[in-house]
Amino acid sequence: MNRKPAVLVTRKLPPNVEARLARDYDARFNAADRLYSGEELLALSEGADAILPCHTEHLNAEVIRRLPDRIRAIANFSVGVDHCDLDAARQRGIIVTNTPDVLTDATAELTMLLLLGAARRASEGERLIRSGQWSTWSPSFMLGTQVTGKRLGIIGMGRIGQMTARRARGLDMEIHYHNRSRLPDALEGGAIYHESLDSLLPLSEFLALHCPNTPETQNLFNADLIARLPDGAIVVNSARGNIVDEDALLDALRSGRIAAAGLDVFKDEPHIRPEFAKLDNTFLLPHLGSATRETRDAMGYRALDNLDAVFAGREPMDRVA
Ligand code: DGY
Repeated sequence: MNRKPAVLVTRKLPPNVEARLARDYDARFNAADRLYSGEELLALSEGADAILPCHTEHLNAEVIRRLPDRIRAIANFSVGVDHCDLDAARQRGIIVTNTPDVLTDATAELTMLLLLGAARRASEGERLIRSGQWSTWSPSFMLGTQVTGKRLGIIGMGRIGQMTARRARGLDMEIHYHNRSRLPDALEGGAIYHESLDSLLPLSEFLALHCPNTPETQNLFNADLIARLPDGAIVVNSARGNIVDEDALLDALRSGRIAAAGLDVFKDEPHIRPEFAKLDNTFLLPHLGSATRETRDAMGYRALDNLDAVFAGREPMDRVA
């Protein structure tokens, strides 16, 4: 290809990433960072050779089926690819990539924030101060749950789950996990494998969800799962909102069956269920897992490395379809 490949960039990316895009591609930016509908995305894809989307774009089977023939690749600026119908892309011969590894630290870091924030009532304390209502201190004031030395159950021991385990070991937590398969000793780092949730859940004083959103994991965290956790367990989710049956979680938070939840992801972002914000025992963040300057740059470079490989006729490092 003599001309620079045309790339539709669906969201505003970090300046350094956009500079590299502008240097190497005929990049079609979204300076206003507006969220495109499926129809807009299809219209804007005309004349493009590739799309660089985020998880906010719904590249479902219908959209992918209607993409112009010229589109060769979808280079996601995300590790999660549940917004993108991989089978539909395979059928069209469109290469799809993601950005693993580079957001592992940031997401595990944020998972620890959720865990600590939920356990130590950080939102409630912050609100008290910001609203000017803090009036006293007493030995029984705003008691939370100690994290140090507790048992942490992890569902999904991929890169981010493993990093969360490492960070949690810094708080002397005892790590238990469930994963499709057992990790090699070197990666397990002393964590205890549970072949089924049946043995993991009753031990999990804290539970961190780190599995991908797939048809098998949708609403995995439901009333049945909650019933098998210890009373007063604390749950954190920095993976995807779809994994959680939000009605069941809200019921359990209201009854105190779940003592607190730290949530960075929700089913219908950014339209989160208002009940979550009304509860005192929630610690809520707006999908910030990978939101550090360092990580967002790295995600952009990784997406571009993948795109560069496609247009150089090489196999991209992070091909998922
Ligand atoms: C990811 O990479 O999947 C994060 O959720 C941000 O999109």
